[in-house]
Amino acid sequence: MQIVHSLADLRRTLKPAALRAFVPTMGNLHQGHLELMQMARQEVDKRADENKRHGGGMTVASIFVNRLQFGPNEDFDTYPRTFERDCEQLQANGCDVVFAPTEQDLYPEPQVFKVHPPAELADILEGAFRHGFFVGVSTVVHKLFNIVQPDIAVFGKKDYQQLMVIRRMVQQMALPIEIIGGETRRADTGLALSSRNGYLSAEERAEAVQLSIALKGLAAAARAGNAAGLLDVAAAEAAAMAALRQRGWAPDYITLRRQHDLSPVTGPCAEPLVVLGAAKLGKTRLIDNLEV
Ligand code: PAF
Repeated sequence: MQIVHSLADLRRTLKPAALRAFVPTMGNLHQGHLELMQMARQEVDKRADENKRHGGGMTVASIFVNRLQFGPNEDFDTYPRTFERDCEQLQANGCDVVFAPTEQDLYPEPQVFKVHPPAELADILEGAFRHGFFVGVSTVVHKLFNIVQPDIAVFGKKDYQQLMVIRRMVQQMALPIEIIGGETRRADTGLALSSRNGYLSAEERAEAVQLSIALKGLAAAARAGNAAGLLDVAAAEAAAMAALRQRGWAPDYITLRRQHDLSPVTGPCAEPLVVLGAAKLGKTRLIDNLEV
């Protein structure tokens, strides 16, 4: 596995690769990231088998903590940087090249050209609580796509809205990249793996699974309500938030949405649905989701 920092070195390293599969990360990797890496590897190997032309496929992971997507009171400075361990794990999971630019490499001057996703997708849910978050994500991902020029890019469904924003950006900008969504990896308890779980105390970690339990409850209420033709979504969402509040959480949202565009649902709905939630436990803000 090669580790490169500058854009020029990366372009040189990737030049022989006829097929490129890319996993963008901010490092501090967990099993969920590693499974995305394994998916990228499988895609490259599968396509290389199918088509000899693609024999020179490469997998690439980026590690870059992107200042643009952090708000002023968020955890940019304290976000764990675990570069050496990340590289060892990537190597063991099929990564050919790690791209780890410095801020100077990626943003040599202030990034004044930015990608602004549409408000109806980017100013709701996460975007409503983390202003500018999806501008920061879309800008860095678009820039990384331009640098890596992948054929395939793999993102986790854990960041459900992020995955949707990226898919729409790729479609609207006609980027020739196939976006693959990887399932959320969970601990045995049901807690979704996240880099920010590392902020939790042992006691908080045991409690953290309650977010996915609240989502499961709302998903069950949606299924039952849909089957009965009687579903009061606002009441079910309020009950799920109240249950978390009672346990000491500060929920931002627990909500039932259409998978297609994350628009709200008010009553019974035959379309594929998803429940999404974000809540603070102590100082740590966690997110999760579940397709219904
Ligand atoms: O999901 C993440 O880790 C980040 O948002 C991403 C996609 C690497 C962009 O910085």
